[in-house]
Amino acid sequence: MSRRLGWLALYSLSVSLFTCLLFLKKTSKPALTSMASRQTGSPMARHPFWAPTGSHHNLCLPNSEVANASAVLPTRHRLFLTYKHCRNFSTLLQPTGCPADTFLLLAIKSLPAHVDRRAAIRSTWGRIRGQGGGQKLKLVFLLGVGGTSPPPQLLAYESQEFDDILQWNFNEDFFNLTLKELHLQRWLTTSCPQAQFVLKGDDDVFVHVPNVLEFLRGQDPSQDLFVGDVIREALPNRNIRVKYFIPPSMYRAHHYPPYAGGGGYVMSQATVRRLGVTVEEVDLFPIDDVFVGMCLKKLGVKPTHHAGFKTFGIRRPLDPLDPCLYKELLLVHCLSPLEMWTTWALVKDEGLRCAAPPAQAQQTG
Ligand SMILES: *[C@@H]1O[C@H](CO)[C@@H](O)[C@H](O)[C@H]1NC(C)=O
Ligand SMILES: *[C@@H]1O[C@H](CO)[C@@H](O)[C@H](O)[C@H]1NC(C)=O
Ligand SMILES: *[C@@H]1O[C@H](CO)[C@@H](O)[C@H](O)[C@H]1NC(C)=O
Repeated sequence: MSRRLGWLALYSLSVSLFTCLLFLKKTSKPALTSMASRQTGSPMARHPFWAPTGSHHNLCLPNSEVANASAVLPTRHRLFLTYKHCRNFSTLLQPTGCPADTFLLLAIKSLPAHVDRRAAIRSTWGRIRGQGGGQKLKLVFLLGVGGTSPPPQLLAYESQEFDDILQWNFNEDFFNLTLKELHLQRWLTTSCPQAQFVLKGDDDVFVHVPNVLEFLRGQDPSQDLFVGDVIREALPNRNIRVKYFIPPSMYRAHHYPPYAGGGGYVMSQATVRRLGVTVEEVDLFPIDDVFVGMCLKKLGVKPTHHAGFKTFGIRRPLDPLDPCLYKELLLVHCLSPLEMWTTWALVKDEGLRCAAPPAQAQQTG
């Protein structure tokens, strides 16, 4: 076991080194020529977008009235309220498109700095080739702007090399995740309406793609489907020190509508289409998964709970490295890139046979 882990660590190290090498090689070339050789994609992709940020004007002005009225709230809440009316941001980078017969689109929220997480996903469960058993998968990462690292050229390189970066011109912030939802819905409507199912998740989830596909094969994309780790009657957090703090002035009702934990959930094409209309009509709410819950309520779509979505991670004392653990799971939250590699190795390893899971054993015996 420890030898296997050793090899794994060595492998990840060499992959990182290789990526760095490729990156260095790429940056030494004139970036503009290679960008221009790209046939399709956004017209934006031809701009040297690492030019000073003044090149993308943000025409949406703050609402000073709201800013004054919310002076007692924490800075982040104040910023959110002051810019809540700003809903239209330009697309900086986007993939050349979605395959015509996309079965499942994997839309993963990431940050510009999370290069390592994206690399781990691309080389493990997000590896599109060889997975899907004839059904087309497409992976995209959803990004805003901001943060200090990495150098912007790296994102340009990633976008060119992997064609999986979808970046919009708003600041990365926990409270701006709802803008990602809104802009993802717009992109789905214009650029990937054919996807039969969409899985949205964080960049620290492990998705057991074969299990997700098996689950989806029994579903009809033209029917409403919204499935994940559903939270019911959640109370808004009224403690000002907590990240999820929501004052009554921002949400008055006693509890939130049912919603699926933002770590990861799956929607059918029918639900995506209807959601795409509703997100335009609903006021932005700073917590993105609750915002989606609000939209679902408006649509009359009930989110379905599935125990295979572990958006709160796996409770100890279960061993996260137990290969049997993953046999029945669709998605697990909160994994580091190293854990991602380890889990992938465990799930792929044909030699590590797993006995019948306890639930089944109970049913049959
Ligand atoms: C907001 O407060 C600032 C400074 O206190 C004041 O100059 C401005 O007129 C106020 N704006 C509104 C819309 O009340
Ligand atoms: C955003 O764009 C839509 C349609 O293009 C427009 O109707 C709306 O007024 C815009 N909103 C803002 C705040 O600019
Ligand atoms: C969200 O992004 C906009 C545009 O970049 C920015 O003005 C605003 O401050 C951000 N919101 C938060 C809460 O940081």
